[in-house]
Amino acid sequence: MSQYHIKSLEEYFQVYRKSIRDPETFWEEIAEENFIWRKRWDKVLDWNFSNAEATWFQGAQLNITENCIDRHLPTRGNKTALIFEPNNPEEKTQHITYKQLHQRVCQFANVLKEKGIKRGDRVCIYLPMIPELAISILACARIGAIHNVVFAGFSATALQTRINDCECKMVITSDGSFRGNKTIDLKGIVDEALKNAPCVETVLVVQRTHSKIEMNEGRDFWLQPLLDSAYKDCAIEVMDAEDPLFILYTSGSTGMPKGMMHTTAGYMVYCAYTFKNVFQYREEDVYWCTADIGWITGHSYILYGPLVNGATTVLFEGVPNYPDWGRFWQIVEKHKVNQFYTAPTAIRALAKENLSFVEKYNLSSLKVLGTVGEPINEEAWHWYDDIIGKGNTPIGDTWRQTETGGIMISPIPFVTPTIPTFATLPFPGIQPCLMDEKGEEINGNPANGRLCVKFPWPSMARTIWGNHQRYKDTYFSTFENKYFTGDGALRDNTGYYRITGRVDDVIIVSGHNLGTAPIEDAINEHPAVAESAIVGFPHDVKGNALYGYVILKETGESRNHDNLRKEINQLITEKIGPIAKLDKIQFTSGLPKTRSGKIMRRILRKIAHKETSNLGDTSTLLNPEVVQEIIENAL
Ligand code: PRX
Repeated sequence: MSQYHIKSLEEYFQVYRKSIRDPETFWEEIAEENFIWRKRWDKVLDWNFSNAEATWFQGAQLNITENCIDRHLPTRGNKTALIFEPNNPEEKTQHITYKQLHQRVCQFANVLKEKGIKRGDRVCIYLPMIPELAISILACARIGAIHNVVFAGFSATALQTRINDCECKMVITSDGSFRGNKTIDLKGIVDEALKNAPCVETVLVVQRTHSKIEMNEGRDFWLQPLLDSAYKDCAIEVMDAEDPLFILYTSGSTGMPKGMMHTTAGYMVYCAYTFKNVFQYREEDVYWCTADIGWITGHSYILYGPLVNGATTVLFEGVPNYPDWGRFWQIVEKHKVNQFYTAPTAIRALAKENLSFVEKYNLSSLKVLGTVGEPINEEAWHWYDDIIGKGNTPIGDTWRQTETGGIMISPIPFVTPTIPTFATLPFPGIQPCLMDEKGEEINGNPANGRLCVKFPWPSMARTIWGNHQRYKDTYFSTFENKYFTGDGALRDNTGYYRITGRVDDVIIVSGHNLGTAPIEDAINEHPAVAESAIVGFPHDVKGNALYGYVILKETGESRNHDNLRKEINQLITEKIGPIAKLDKIQFTSGLPKTRSGKIMRRILRKIAHKETSNLGDTSTLLNPEVVQEIIENAL
C-alpha cells in the first residue's frame, strides 16, 4: 500500500484511519520518504489549541527550494517546470526547465542579497502573473527571506497597509501589467503606496509593459541589469522547520487584514502530499491552476505543491475572456493540459457564453478537474462535468482557506465517488467536525453546523503576524480546543461534507474573501456619508455581490444619488480595489439596530435577498419603523 499516492477507496480509508489513530507516525513516514532534510526532526508534533499553538517537525532543517528545484536537477533538469502563457496569445510562450529555474532563482537570490536582504527580512512582491513572480518568491525562500505577496489587483492603500503591517524592507514590482486589453500602471500604484511606508529601502522593477514610469533614485532599480551581473549559483540558507516561509493577508470580518504566517516544513510536506493526490499528478502531466499566485491557491498549488513533486505547472498572465471567451480552452489544447483547476465564478461566467467557445478546441487531454474558493452550485457543477469533462473527468471540489495552507476536504479523483456540490471527505490527517450553536460537537449523520477542525495539520497557519492574541481570538476561542473555520457545512448520511458558506461577516465575491468592515470604513470616508452597512446577495456569476445600505449626512441628501454611487465605488476602488465595488447602493434614513446599537445585518441580508415575508422578530429593534422604509425602497 502506498500512503503517499492513494489509488483506491480502500487505500484511502486505511490511510485515513492510520492518520487519525497515529498521526505522528503517519506524518513522519510521509516526511521521511519524500523530501530532502538537512537535519531530521526531534519531534513530529507539539500542540496546544487553547494557546493556538502547533509546531511540526520541530528541530528539522531544510530549504524548500532545495526540495522544489535542486533535487530534481539530476533526473528532471531538462523537464519544463514552468510554462508561461502570456496575456496576449500572439506573444511567445516560455518553457522554463528545472535547470533554468535553478539558475534564475539563484541569480535573483543573489540580487536580493546584494541589496541587503537577509534571512527573516520581509519582502513584498507586487507583480503580475509573469515568471518573475514565481522566481522572486523562490529566491526569497532560498535565502530565508519571508515573502509577502500582494495580489496585483489591490489598490495603493491596501498595498501600503500590507507593507507596513509586516515592515517589508523591499518591494518587487513591474513597470506595469497586462490584463486583457488593459495596461495597468503597477509602478505608479507602488509609488503611491510608498509615500507612507518608511520601512521600504529598495524597489526592484521588472520590465514588462515598457511603460514610462518614474524611478526614484537610490530606491528604485531595474531588475534586469542586476540579474545580468549576478552569479548563477546561490547556496541555500538552511532553515529551521518552524521558520516563517511567508505571510499572506486575508480579510477578516473586522479590522485590519490578517497577515497569516506560514512556516516551512509542515507547509511543504502537506502541500506536496495533497497536490500529488488531489490532482493524481503523473510524471509527464501538464498541470494548470488558473488562480493568481497572489492568493493561497497560487502559493500552494501553482508553485510549491507542483514544484516539490517535480511537476510542469502553467502560469497564465491573462484573463478568461481575452481575446475571447475561448482563451482557457485554447490554452488547454495548446499545452495539452491534464489537470485543470479553477474557481466556480469562472465556471459560471464561462457557462453563460456560447458553447462554440468550448467546442472549437480539443480538450481530450483533460484527466482531472478542480474547483476552489466558494461553494459551487449544481448547475455550474454539471456544466463543468458535461461540457468540459465530457462526463468522464472527475471533479475535485476542494475546500481550503488561506489559514489552512493546503486542501482540507476534497475528493481524490478516480478514488472518491463524487456528488455535485459536495467537497466529500477529509484528506488524511484532517479531523473536521460540526458544532452546534451551544458549542457542542454534533455526532452522527446527517448533521448541519459550524465547521471546525479538532486536530492540528502540518500546513496550518501558525499565527497572525505580530498579533497572536488576534489569531487565538479569531480561530480558537469560539469553540474550546477547536480551530473554527468561519464556514457552515452539512454532513450527509455517508459522511460527505458540503460547505454551505460563511457564517460570519466575510462575504465571498467571485471567490475573493471580502470583510464587510474595511469596505464600510472606506464608504464612511466619503464626506457625504454618515454610516453604512454591507451585506451579500446572490449573483449568478460572482456567487455573491455586495449590497450597501448608506445613510447620508444632510449635505449629501441634496446631491445627485447616481453621482454619489459612482463616487462611493471610486473610493472603494482606491482604498481596497475594484473587486470590492458594490453592485447595489441604497440610500436610507436609518439602519435597523438593536438596543445596544448593533446593526441587525440579518434583516438587511433578507431584504437584499428579497426575502421580506419573514423577517423574524423585529420588535427588539431600537428603530423598527426604518425596516419598512428600507423594504419599500429596496433595489
Ligand atoms: O468560505 C470558504 C470558501 O473560501 C474561504 C476561504 O477563502 P480564502 O482564504 O480566500 O481561500 C480561498 C480558497 C483557496 C473558505 O472559508 N471556500 C474555499 N473553498 C471552498 C469554499 N467554499 C465552498 N467550497 C469550496 N470548495
